[in-house]
Amino acid sequence: MNQKKLLVIGNWKLNPATKTEAIALADQIDKNSKHTAVLAPPLIFLTTIDYPLLAAQDCFSNIKGAYTGQTSAAALASLQVKYCIIGHSERRSLGETDEMINQKASMALSAGLIPVICIGHGTTVTEDDLAVTEVLARQLDINLNGLDPNRVVVAYEPVWAIGSGKSASPEHAEMISLFIQTKYQVPIVLYGGSVNSANASSYVQQPHINGFLVGGASLLPNDFNYIINI
Ligand code: PGA
Repeated sequence: MNQKKLLVIGNWKLNPATKTEAIALADQIDKNSKHTAVLAPPLIFLTTIDYPLLAAQDCFSNIKGAYTGQTSAAALASLQVKYCIIGHSERRSLGETDEMINQKASMALSAGLIPVICIGHGTTVTEDDLAVTEVLARQLDINLNGLDPNRVVVAYEPVWAIGSGKSASPEHAEMISLFIQTKYQVPIVLYGGSVNSANASSYVQQPHINGFLVGGASLLPNDFNYIINI
């Protein structure tokens, strides 16, 4: 039986719609889970929900100034937010570049947040392990430039697996995690992409997968509670 402690982040994305629903959802998530569980609600609900560990879904690349609509890492840190997801493929597809992600991660670190850098955008289901590592290396070479790898978390999320119900094989996710840990010296690598209560245990058995970034299943309290206590 594998006893390692996982980091499991529930990425609620743009869900739920209202404050009342957000409070109710967080109230159903186990606060004393076996693994380290973190909730990443929409920004506006970060101070509304009651949960011990929180992540933002993004931050801006500057600390303050004339940037209408943006949120700084320093502001997030002042709200007791501990982690910040950066470079999610849903943001990359809106035009976020590897350089912007590097800048945001650097700002997050300066503010005392732990950046959770997401990679995998641009990968396809048909690529072999080597081709995938080439895409990821292009992203990580820039995303991690100048950062202390010991202070960041990397989440490998093959873009075709996100929200599709098709997850990467545990062996593939393990190979990629090992690659990231070995080449970039990042100690904590998460897998994300259609993780649910039925498939999570198959990844846990892999020695170099340290947890999950969970989207859809994090909105289902029974499923998420199962994963954070697996
Ligand atoms: P999913 O999303 O679990 O719904 O595939 C994961 C993510 O986008 O972080």
